[in-house]
Amino acid sequence: MNSRSPFYLRFPQTKNLTAMSSDLTKVILEEHEMPRQWYNIQADLPSPMPPPLGMNGLPVSPDDLARVFPMNLIEQEMSSERWIDIPPEVLGILKLWRPSPLYRARRLEKALGTPAKIYYKNEGVSPAGSHKPNTAVAQAWYNREFGIKYLTTETGAGQWGSALAMSCKLIGIECKVFMVRISFDQKPFRKTMMRTWGAECIPSPSTQTAAGRRILEEMPDTPGSLGIAISEAIEQAVEREDTRYALGSVLNHVMLHQTIIGLEAKKQFEKIGHYPDVVIGCAGGGSNFAGISFPFICDKIHGKPVQVIATEPEACPTLTRGPYIYDTGDVAKMTPLLPMHSLGHRFIPPALHAGGLRYHGMAPLVSHVKQLGLIDATALPQTECYEAALLFAHTEGFIPAPETSHAIAQTIREANKAKEEGKEKVILMNWSGHGLMDLQGYDAFLSGKVTDYALPDELLEQSLAAVRDHPRPPEA
Ligand SMILES: Cc1ncc(COP(=O)(O)O)c(C=O)c1O
Repeated sequence: MNSRSPFYLRFPQTKNLTAMSSDLTKVILEEHEMPRQWYNIQADLPSPMPPPLGMNGLPVSPDDLARVFPMNLIEQEMSSERWIDIPPEVLGILKLWRPSPLYRARRLEKALGTPAKIYYKNEGVSPAGSHKPNTAVAQAWYNREFGIKYLTTETGAGQWGSALAMSCKLIGIECKVFMVRISFDQKPFRKTMMRTWGAECIPSPSTQTAAGRRILEEMPDTPGSLGIAISEAIEQAVEREDTRYALGSVLNHVMLHQTIIGLEAKKQFEKIGHYPDVVIGCAGGGSNFAGISFPFICDKIHGKPVQVIATEPEACPTLTRGPYIYDTGDVAKMTPLLPMHSLGHRFIPPALHAGGLRYHGMAPLVSHVKQLGLIDATALPQTECYEAALLFAHTEGFIPAPETSHAIAQTIREANKAKEEGKEKVILMNWSGHGLMDLQGYDAFLSGKVTDYALPDELLEQSLAAVRDHPRPPEA
């Protein structure tokens, strides 16, 4: 362990309280113990992340982004300050459900017969049901402070759309959500949640935007994709002076806001005198994974041995099979070129139940730490994930979101490995959300209608043809 780590300076080691923790089921922080600052990993990266590029091939400037995001968030996006203060009003709203509990999954451990200690950070306790409000509240607040009255966004599974709808209501601005059509049809009650919080929710692709109309002409029966919904939401945001766009993942400031998860988890581990050997999160755009792992990756950069694993679906294997390239975050190429692992911006993933993991790209910061060798990535079949979700529900009670089930399946793999090796590993998993609005997927699985699908090489090649002439970021 390196004593120069900024985390060890900030959170001094507590005495070993293992004896006290031996029968704990959950570790709770008091409200006054909540982190007051977010952690920005950009301050500690061994080599800086390559910049996003405009279509002219030059690094984007803050002004290039000003029609899409408010300047206070653009500053955060580009900041390399290690610690950024959480505004008191944002902290006050986060306190409605935070600090979130860190659970010890004792009953799951017992069912697996593993010597591993499995901990999970339960982000399903937020009003919208996932980690997404951690950044939604912050983004709504910064927009309102900048004078913005209206936010547009996309949503896949509906977790992000609900989170932003709730946050806009609590902060006092309007919200419109383009929801990927397949999820809109599969999850009608997510739409009702958004409407209950006062937001408008429409299926994407829609006829309301030029991008949506173009796609509908080309592919009238498309299930939609996050890439299409993002194009629609940005198109509407840039049309009005009082409107901006909010993104639920991928961008640096979203990763930043989510670090409250990992910062709390570190404090919780300090309380019980443990430290994880392995940290696991599912990865769609990368935000819940970054949220739990970046504070631990900081320690890893400073010499602490901790393995960090991002896990994704075999059907949408962005980190494991997508090349590291410059690509746009949306289909209509309205975003800058981001340095990221990508399956190609025109990639339309199959109609998976884990709608929040159906995204062609991966957060540039997550892609960069992968390039730096600081994290590993795995891609899992859908049925293994549902089996894992059922075992979790049968032992721990909570029904996880289909996205979260990927983290659970990877955790089970690690716990089984610990059993084979006879090692008492400490595993930390981000339990990114509950699945109470995702029961259609469970229904399909329980009726034997869910099958596995690994992306065929030919389809990946076809999709990557659209990005062949894009510039390449330098290898880290
Ligand atoms: C419960 C849950 N987990 C994970 C994700 C994946 O998103 P991200 O990778 O940004 O955390 C989503 C996205 O909607 C989600 O709803």
